[in-house]
This record gives sequence, C-alpha cells and structure tokens, in this order.
Amino acid sequence: MKDRLELTLRDGAPVIVRPLIEEDRPLVAEAYRRLSPDARYQRFWTRTGEMIGKEMLDRLLDQDATSHLTWALLDPAREFPGVGGASWWRNANKPDEAELSVMVLDDDQRRGIGTLLLAVMWITAFRAGVEHLVGYTLTENRSAANWMRDCGGAGEWDGYKLVFRWRLDNLDSLPETPAAADLADWLARLGPRVLGCGSSS
Ligand SMILES: CC(C)(COP(=O)(O)OP(=O)(O)OC[C@H]1O[C@@H](n2cnc3c(N)ncnc32)[C@H](O)[C@@H]1OP(=O)(O)O)[C@@H](O)C(=O)NCCC(=O)NCCS
Repeated sequence: MKDRLELTLRDGAPVIVRPLIEEDRPLVAEAYRRLSPDARYQRFWTRTGEMIGKEMLDRLLDQDATSHLTWALLDPAREFPGVGGASWWRNANKPDEAELSVMVLDDDQRRGIGTLLLAVMWITAFRAGVEHLVGYTLTENRSAANWMRDCGGAGEWDGYKLVFRWRLDNLDSLPETPAAADLADWLARLGPRVLGCGSSS
C-alpha cells in the first residue's frame, strides 16, 4: 500500500498510519461501536446508537485523492488495532477549502494522536491543492476547541458552532504551543513521505 507509515508516538508506542481501504469496513464499524456516546456525538453530531450506518461508512470510504481522504491510526500490538482516524472533504462550492474531522478513541486522547492525524490531513489536502482546512466543533466540546486552537486553528463562532481554520501554506502563523510545535515537527518529518494519493495498493 502506498503511504503506509510506521511511526512512533511520543510515549514510544509504535503505530501504523495509512489510508482506509474498502476491507476496513468492519474495523471502522467496530471503532464506531467502541466510542463513548459523547465522543460519537462530538465527532458525528448524531445520537444514533452504536451501529454506524451504511451511508456514513460509504461517506468515509468513498475516497479519491482530490475530494476526500480518510486515514486511520492503528496500534498493531492490540487485539483491536483501531485507535483513531481523520478525514477531509473538499467543499464543492469553495474548492480551496476542505472540511477536517478527527476522531481518537476516548482512552487514547492526549497522546498526540489527533495532532499527528492533523499533520497527515494537512499534507494530503495541501498536495490536492486545498488552501484551507476548516474544522467545526460544538461549543460545549472544549477538548476539540482547545485542541484546534492549540494546533493553530483560527477560531470564530458562527452563531451555532465554532469554526477553526488553518491556512495550509503558512506555518509562520502557528502559535507557540507544544501542540503546534508537535504539528510542525510531524509536518516536517512526514512531508517528504506522504504522497497523498489515497488508498490504492
Ligand atoms: C479533539 C481530539 C481529536 C483531540 O485528539 P487528541 O489525540 O486527544 O489530541 P492531542 O493529544 O494531539 O492534543 C494536543 C493538544 O491539544 C490540546 N488538547 C487536546 N485535548 C484537550 C483537552 N481535553 N483539554 C485541553 N486541551 C486539550 C492540548 O494542548 C494538547 O496537548 P497536551 O496534551 O500536550 O496538553 C479528540 O479529543 C477527539 O477525538 N475528540 C472526540 C471527537 C471530536 O470532538 N473531534 C473533533 C471534531 S471533528
């Protein structure tokens, strides 16, 4: 598989980061089932129970390198390896923008995984010609809002949700936070390694 990365988290855990492939449907469904109801709501904005719907699965897996990618972060030492995932979707009406979403299992948050996945989304979107990544979060989702802010997203309230925006060609505007330093470090390390061409073999 192109773009399969073997990486080490800051706590020393070896992980694999790669695009989702069609055969990952059961993996994604099981990861969805394992999320807490709150995390599922924060990521998917719906309280529809533990079973992911076919439409959502299709939406995650129907990828192409210019309009949508989803990557997974896997811990190969675990019986169930799925730990996190991230996607971007290009905005059909504003093709210089893509919507970002990131999900990390509850017990694996604050290990730097969201920031690593953001770096991968940044590189793959930038390679596809996207100029801005835009992340949306509910106001009460303080974890996501803090994370997006600490990773340099410029935030504003649109009357319903918080909207964070990253300009992908400008690392100079990243804040002086540990999370932004991690992000810049991953961007520098992964930039030359990620092709951003999706899930082909
Ligand atoms: C938001 C989310 C993706 C962050 O992923 P993560 O792997 O926990 O984030 P990281 O470990 O990379 O965090 C990096 C930094 O962001 C900030 N941050 C992350 N979570 C935070 C929290 N709960 N409170 C305060 N700051 C937080 C911190 O500065 C953190 O650095 P530190 O841990 O060294 O202090 C994760 O919490 C998540 O999956 N939440 C549920 C789904 C969701 O809300 N997704 C976002 C909307 S699409």
